[in-house]
Amino acid sequence: MVVREANPEEQVAMAKIAAAAFFDDELFGDLIHPYRHQYPDDTHLYWLKRLRKGWNDPSNHFLVSTLPTSDGANEKVVAWAQWVRKGAAAGKSAQASDLEQLPELPENRAANPEFEGCLEGSYRSFAHEWSGPRAECWDIAWLATAPSHQGEGHGKALMQWGMSRGVEEGVALSVIAALGKDGFYNKLGYTVPSGRACDGEDNPLSGRVVGGHFWWKEDHLRPAESL
Ligand SMILES: CC(C)(COP(=O)(O)OP(=O)(O)OC[C@H]1O[C@@H](n2cnc3c(N)ncnc32)[C@H](O)[C@@H]1OP(=O)(O)O)[C@@H](O)C(=O)NCCC(=O)NCCS
Repeated sequence: MVVREANPEEQVAMAKIAAAAFFDDELFGDLIHPYRHQYPDDTHLYWLKRLRKGWNDPSNHFLVSTLPTSDGANEKVVAWAQWVRKGAAAGKSAQASDLEQLPELPENRAANPEFEGCLEGSYRSFAHEWSGPRAECWDIAWLATAPSHQGEGHGKALMQWGMSRGVEEGVALSVIAALGKDGFYNKLGYTVPSGRACDGEDNPLSGRVVGGHFWWKEDHLRPAESL
């Protein structure tokens, strides 16, 4: 496998991997895409929209894990990650004009329009998590491995990309774990819990999902004498 930065022409392949990986997730499946069984080919539009919006923001780092095709002549993307550098070193956000130039995507018929933007609506309820000593941080915002390639080490390899940066820079590492994925991150050293993405009043996720736990990896930040 090769882990490298993603190219813009790989966005559709990445969106389709996320759509398949999160198909039956409580948030991206049941809540946001209740009509996904009727329109299974539409769900990747949600991810494509997210990828296009975030692509030019220098705080975002899109990585892919690839394998050679069966004839060995090419490579195929089988997993991807979006790492976000939060804090002073994050870089300037994309200009609105960059986003306006994006071509229109077709309607996502698998989505419930009421909840399509619920994640964005929930950010204000947990943005405070990245404050104080945790303001400087590498956050793994998205991670998805194609279902047919799960268990082959792609997720771990993509995690190592950002974890090594967090250790080098001496900053915290964070994740909001999807339901059932806490164990994956715990195994990688994300063992310090804090809140949940669905906590807080006026949070559109409140009472609608049960996962979304925050986990932190901070053992590399402890003074040497306390290790
Ligand atoms: C979570 C996910 C990215 C893991 O990717 P993957 O490529 O299958 O993971 P890896 O093969 O690198 O597994 C690394 C280790 O984690 C373990 N692991 C994988 N999923 C796990 C889980 N849900 N709970 C506990 N451990 C898990 C593996 O057994 C492996 O252990 P090992 O190092 O002892 O062999 C993948 O299952 C996925 O895409 N899921 C759907 C989308 C999703 O929920 N993404 C995470 C959002 S927060």
